[in-house]
Amino acid sequence: MSLLTVSSVAELREFVHQAKFKGLSVGFVPTMGNLHAGHMSLVKHANKQCDVVIASIFVNPLQFNDLSDLTNYPRTLEQDQALLEENGCSLLFAPTVDEMYPNGQGSQSIVSVPDVSMGLCGGARPGHFDGVATVVTKLFNMVQADKAFFGEKDFQQLAVIRKMVADLCIPVDVVGVPTERNNEGLALSSRNGYLSANELALAPAIFKALQDVVNAIQQGNDFDSTLEQTQQRLNQQGFKVDYLALCRESDLKPATAEDDQLVVLVAAFLGSARLIDNLPFPLNRTTD
Ligand code: PAJ
Repeated sequence: MSLLTVSSVAELREFVHQAKFKGLSVGFVPTMGNLHAGHMSLVKHANKQCDVVIASIFVNPLQFNDLSDLTNYPRTLEQDQALLEENGCSLLFAPTVDEMYPNGQGSQSIVSVPDVSMGLCGGARPGHFDGVATVVTKLFNMVQADKAFFGEKDFQQLAVIRKMVADLCIPVDVVGVPTERNNEGLALSSRNGYLSANELALAPAIFKALQDVVNAIQQGNDFDSTLEQTQQRLNQQGFKVDYLALCRESDLKPATAEDDQLVVLVAAFLGSARLIDNLPFPLNRTTD
């Protein structure tokens, strides 16, 4: 089936109305475009679990802290449309800023998700998760999908969306999809396009560092010194680590030895690109 692209909420609603009238289930994949195999993994999961797949592309100004980051964000609509069509997406919703924020961004009602938005990327990028939660709430209300698909690559974002949906009783199932990586282990990201050839060769060290942390912690090493040593090593390799943190997977509170399921999360600059990655893992405690 060929891909239909619409830019108005009215056209989107009409499409969804028709699908639901036919009794079809709707899967939704929100994105900011510049699509790659990571995004396509979400589309493929959506295709397996739902009858109709809708994707959105909207570079959301509300979630950018830095105007130049917003301006420079790669926009590749035609290429994105081809990928979506190849992967069986039925409808692309690609609204303008005016369509999303008709009353202006300044007077937009804001959705703010406490606790889980604090710290990590929320600490480094103030207001970022308010911007994400607000646009995703609007998109959820516009699409009214049965299921929405988000990548574990943005682990804190997924936790924010899950809490928001639970707290506000939004009638959608949130499905988390594992991170898609290249052969060297580098998590696929639109921001990898900012890396030079040398930086691209170095970038997989970030995933290696996460694996090293997991091994060290599972062997019973101390949390703080493991994180400190790994952070130092990444900085020596040429990264500028923003944070390297060990958290409880369920709510991203700092990990304790009593937790069962942990996640190690990192954000680091490599040249001008800020890369993020994470690795969830069980804490196997030895019983005496
Ligand atoms: P964007 O960065 O375009 O990502 C869209 C979705 O693709 C997110 O759920 C993200 O986690 C997922 N994704 C990105 N890289 C991935 C990878 N390597 N493997 C698996 N999934 C991956 O995240 C956003 O856009 C925005 O914040 C958005 C939710 C659309 C709100 O504006």
